Amino acid sequence: MSEFKEYQDHGKELINFPTEIAGIELKNPVMNAAGTCKLPEDVERLSNSESSAIMVGSITVESRDGNSGDVYAYLPEDRWSINSKGLPNKGIEYYKQELPLMVARAHSKEKPIFVSVAGFSPEEYVLLSQVAFECGVDLVELNLGCPNVWQGDKQKQIACFNLNLVDEILEKVEKKVGSEAKVSVKISPFSDPFTLVKVAEVIGSSKLVKAVTAVNTFPNAFGYDGKKSRITPGGGLGGLAGPVLKPIGLGQVRQLRAILPEHIGIMGVGGINKSEDVWEYLDSGASAVQIATAYIEQQEKIFSSILGGYPKS
Ligand SMILES: Cc1cc2nc3c(=O)[nH]c(=O)nc-3n(C[C@H](O)[C@H](O)[C@H](O)COP(=O)(O)O)c2cc1C
Repeated sequence: MSEFKEYQDHGKELINFPTEIAGIELKNPVMNAAGTCKLPEDVERLSNSESSAIMVGSITVESRDGNSGDVYAYLPEDRWSINSKGLPNKGIEYYKQELPLMVARAHSKEKPIFVSVAGFSPEEYVLLSQVAFECGVDLVELNLGCPNVWQGDKQKQIACFNLNLVDEILEKVEKKVGSEAKVSVKISPFSDPFTLVKVAEVIGSSKLVKAVTAVNTFPNAFGYDGKKSRITPGGGLGGLAGPVLKPIGLGQVRQLRAILPEHIGIMGVGGINKSEDVWEYLDSGASAVQIATAYIEQQEKIFSSILGGYPKS
């Protein structure tokens, strides 16, 4: 944080503020968040952008069409997005073929490439992590915070809210990929501070984890479009994101920074759409940040507009 204060004092633009996460050097602190890049053409666009790294995924073992109907809405005037995409992606067999090419493309532009993996069991997290590393990715993000997977009218449990499950996933992944592997854990926002401490302790005591990504969407929000719901799946319930999520994201990052050991970096996510937002996350203890909603809405120019901005004095 003191380094950032120095940066502020010198009024440097974020684009000239190199940082590091999980021992990986980043030219600047800003990258796309999971959910915004799944295909080679997405990687191509991000390779040519100012994003300092490329986050692919979340990917799953089986290919998934995702949920049907209206699955995403953004209301700029109310400053939020809601989504229930349900992890659409082409599955592990596709990524075994395509990831090495995506890695080569990102690396040719001197960008690290990360993959977000979402398992439906600890064993699936293990398999997905193993394949991603074999394909040459620089970091695997374990998505333990997806709220949007439904089987009929039953919602799948969000992994990060089950401490034993978190522990088991981390232990099994470490056993397979080794404690040297560069792994981040992405979590949902915790409204119970006590539980947040508990999960941070589990994560903090794992030799596997080098970074925490906070936060995923706030689960099971509901938005009206006149008299009907904004999105179709889950009776209209979906993950809340966008600017209204920022105060929650900042609070989570601050709490996590106070608990996690220093060697575990934090990637802040939630509501970032201008330079000041990045400043606030860095000042709260994040080393890097990720952007989903504003990237979806504004495409690659969001990176140059944020990175060219000066922090508030
Ligand atoms: C359309 C959409 C799809 C998303 N898909 C994923 C995903 O596959 N994996 C994941 O970890 N997070 C996913 N997220 C969550 C984002 O990565 C991010 O944590 C959240 O949206 C908060 O950031 P934002 O306010 O910049 O949107 C998704 C978000 C949106 C809006």
